[in-house]
Amino acid sequence: MFKEGILKGKRILITGGGTGLGKEIATRYLQLGAEVWIAGRRGAVLEETAQGLMKAHGGKVGTHAVDIRDAQAVDAMVQHIWDSAGPLTGLVNNAAGNFISPTKDLTPNGFNAIANIVFHGSFYVTHAVGKRWIAGGHKGSVISILVTWVHTGSPYVVPSAMSKAGLHIMTKSLAVEWGKYGIRLNAIAPGPFPTEGASKRLRPGGSFEDSNDINPMRRIGQMPELQNLATFLMADGCEWLTGETIAVDGAGYLANGAGFTGLDKLTDADWEQARAMIKAQNDKDRAGRSA
Ligand code: HXC
Repeated sequence: MFKEGILKGKRILITGGGTGLGKEIATRYLQLGAEVWIAGRRGAVLEETAQGLMKAHGGKVGTHAVDIRDAQAVDAMVQHIWDSAGPLTGLVNNAAGNFISPTKDLTPNGFNAIANIVFHGSFYVTHAVGKRWIAGGHKGSVISILVTWVHTGSPYVVPSAMSKAGLHIMTKSLAVEWGKYGIRLNAIAPGPFPTEGASKRLRPGGSFEDSNDINPMRRIGQMPELQNLATFLMADGCEWLTGETIAVDGAGYLANGAGFTGLDKLTDADWEQARAMIKAQNDKDRAGRSA
């Protein structure tokens, strides 16, 4: 879809770039000539991804282990990239946390576990990168990976829906405030593009394809569709496009509104089982973080 080397000269940081959607976007950016930096909580996972990508596609993938909930650590990471490689040209706010739960059962810690990653963490990264762009007189492009619930809301994922809606408004607000610096901000609101992290926490025991028959295009997303949209928004040539959140969901949210309404049918026993499956995935991920 894009000419070879269209992202040559770009240096792009992708949070949560070691796995899932972030890894898919990193792969396409690297293939198209960008220097890519991936950040995440698990250093070993980042390293494995970086080595695998460079082996397959050449180019340069830098890694930085960081928890984006820690503003100081985020600032130190961005300074390290500036010092060791040079200014970034782009940022993809992809790192996220989410699990399905009846809202009445959430503890403040449960709410914060998600809001601190998605809402606070994404702001910390955007701020650390943006203020350096402004100070150095550099242009830049930010893409945040959101979700169509920013338009509809969504039951059973309320901390995520609230946090992503905040980033939707950050995108619009900073597009206006930072337009004069040549900094643009856009967002992508993907419908179901299955990844391990999302499947295990949002569809435990089920499948994203369960909702195929209600999607106007009768299917889930294909990863190249997301990668191509992320490339279009990061490449040069359409810089006047800023402040937009673009859905890529086969018109799913227009047809069906909020997601997860089907979870109304779950019994207490079903929720107990879902919680256990989500916990198993969280424990597995946590073990990887201490490695
Ligand atoms: C209720 C839960 C819970 C659950 C955790 N908690 N899981 N509450 N139901 N299933 C509560 C815990 O009880 C605890 O509160 C608090 O949350 C913190 O739990 P920890 O496990 O200690 O948190 P932490 O290790 O910081 O992990 C953060 C996380 C985890 C968000 C809970 O899932 C994570 O790290 N996820 C990152 C990857 C991820 O989620 N990927 C999917 C993203 S998909 P108490 O009070 O007991 O201490 C996405 C959108 C996809 O974002 C859209 C698709 C359409």
